[in-house]
Amino acid sequence: MSFELVTAGPEQTFRAGEGLAPLLVAGDVVLLEGPLGAGKTRFTQGLAKGLGIAQPLTSPTFVLMNEYQGRLMLYHIDLYRIEAEAEAVELGLDDYFFGDGVCVVEWPDRAPSAMPAGHLLIRLEHASESSRCLTFAAAGPRAEALLPEYMQALVAGAVPSRGGVSDG
Ligand SMILES: Nc1ncnc2c1ncn2[C@@H]1O[C@H](COP(=O)(O)OP(=O)(O)OP(=O)(O)O)[C@@H](O)[C@H]1O
Ligand SMILES: [Mg+2]
Repeated sequence: MSFELVTAGPEQTFRAGEGLAPLLVAGDVVLLEGPLGAGKTRFTQGLAKGLGIAQPLTSPTFVLMNEYQGRLMLYHIDLYRIEAEAEAVELGLDDYFFGDGVCVVEWPDRAPSAMPAGHLLIRLEHASESSRCLTFAAAGPRAEALLPEYMQALVAGAVPSRGGVSDG
C-alpha cells in the first residue's frame, strides 16, 4: 500500500511530520528520500516538535547524527556526506534502529544495505517551487500497521492539505 500527499508549502510539510509523531513507538524507523531541498529536514523538524522536542533541530550534515530527547529519543541521521556505504556500517546504526527511540534517516539511498528491513519510507519530490509530493510506503509489519493509522490522522485533519490514497 502507498499513500500520497501534496503539501502546499514548508509549513504543511512540517505539519505532516508533526502528525506522524504521536503514532511512533521506540524502534520505528522513518527513511526520507528525495533530492536536495525536497523538505526532508523540514518534515523531521515537525516530527521533532510532535515528539515534544523544544530544542531546534538542525541538519546533522557534518556530524551524520544528532540526538534529541522528547517523549521518545529521536535519532536524526543524515547520510548525504558519507563517501562509501561501509562508512554507514561503521556508524553502528543498528544500535539506534533497534534501540530506545525513533530514527529518521535522510539520504538512506546512500547506504541501502545498512537500512533495516522494517521501515516507513517517505519519498519527497518537488511538485513546484513551493509544493512537494510526499509518497509513503510501508516495509514490514510494523510500518504496515502504522501507515493506515497515519493516513487516518491526516484525513482527520492533522494536515490541512489534499491527500490522495492509492493502491500499489
Ligand atoms: N512544500 C514544501 N515543503 C517543504 N519545504 C518546502 C516546501 N516549499 C518550499 N520549501 C522549501 O524547500 C526547502 C526544504 O529544505 P530542507 O532542508 O527541508 O530540504 P532537505 O530535503 O532536507 O534537503 P537536503 O537534502 O539538503 O538535506 C526549504 O527552504 C523550504 O522552505
Ligand atoms: Mg536535510
